[in-house]
Amino acid sequence: MSLSSQPAAVEAPQVAATRIFSLIASELASVEEEFERQARSNIEVIAYIGDYLRASGGKRVRPALTILSNYAAGGDGARPNVIRMATVMEFLHTATLVHDDIIDNAETRRNRPSINQRFGNQTAVLMGDWLYMSAFEASLAERSLPVLDILTAVTRRMTEGEILQLTTVGRADVTEEQYFDILMRKTAYLFSACGEIGAMLGSTDVETQLALRNYGMNLGAAFQLVDDLLDFTATDDVLGKAAGVDLLEGKLTLPLIYLLETERDKRAAIQTVMREGTYDAISRAALTRAAEQSGALDRARNRANDFAAAARNSLDVLPDTKYRDALSSIPTFILERDR
Ligand code: IPE
Ligand code: IPE
Ligand code: MG
Ligand code: MG
Repeated sequence: MSLSSQPAAVEAPQVAATRIFSLIASELASVEEEFERQARSNIEVIAYIGDYLRASGGKRVRPALTILSNYAAGGDGARPNVIRMATVMEFLHTATLVHDDIIDNAETRRNRPSINQRFGNQTAVLMGDWLYMSAFEASLAERSLPVLDILTAVTRRMTEGEILQLTTVGRADVTEEQYFDILMRKTAYLFSACGEIGAMLGSTDVETQLALRNYGMNLGAAFQLVDDLLDFTATDDVLGKAAGVDLLEGKLTLPLIYLLETERDKRAAIQTVMREGTYDAISRAALTRAAEQSGALDRARNRANDFAAAARNSLDVLPDTKYRDALSSIPTFILERDR
């Protein structure tokens, strides 16, 4: 059956995900092997934690995006250098998660104790550094300054995003503009780099590279918006990490920014939740209900929909292949995901 005969919009998210991922199942299996190789170390504790991280899984969205972008640009996504770079992108992502969990005091990640929880902050900081540098070392094999340019820029931006976010912790007056600035840096640029690097390894055509870069940027924005929405609506078990914690950690995300625009009287309670780190002042359920009834959740969700649509539109200039079709169903998978 042709893939394009199944419009993404009417597919259940699990079906869409299975279809997207099964198209590149063998490439993703190679990424797992490459991850295992890149995580090897003579230092026992590093090898142990590397394996702990690999075995904890994760959705592997970034390597999938890199490989599909490569195919969509006309490359052969099964080639060793594409697999290596797809793994580098997952390594960078993993490094940010390890550091992010220290910053956010997270105890759980992918339904397991986080690295900081299991091994302590000191080890987690160093393991994050090790992952960053291992990713860069592996990327050097490409002998490509343009690729390195992108990787260094994106790594710096992710750090900027997390630092900027720290400057807003505990504040109920975060603006929509500040929120998006942080979101683009901490998440969207990495997605964009996956699209662009995947394309660069498959084609020298600048228009193709630009299209996949834009696709990734919009997809990444939608992805983080959905992550922030899931923090309101999901449960710990399904999410594999604690839900409802953004506010407890002092992070005001878009649904609450919108809620505060219409319901100023919620500001004191929201501020108290951030300060106390508990939902004593207003329960999580009550807050979610208020965000829902005021239309704030829908408004935030619409922003995610808009980014998803923009991502899909970016693909218009690419040739019609099953890989482009798969890329064009990822936004739906991301919008409908429950974890
Ligand atoms: C979590 O990323 C961090 C964000 C950018 C929101 P993922 O949701 O891709 O995490 P894993 O890799 O699937 O666990
Ligand atoms: C994403 O933000 C952080 C990174 C890009 C590392 P979050 O802090 O919301 O990610 P989760 O929810 O902990 O996965
Ligand atoms: Mg976090
Ligand atoms: Mg989150």
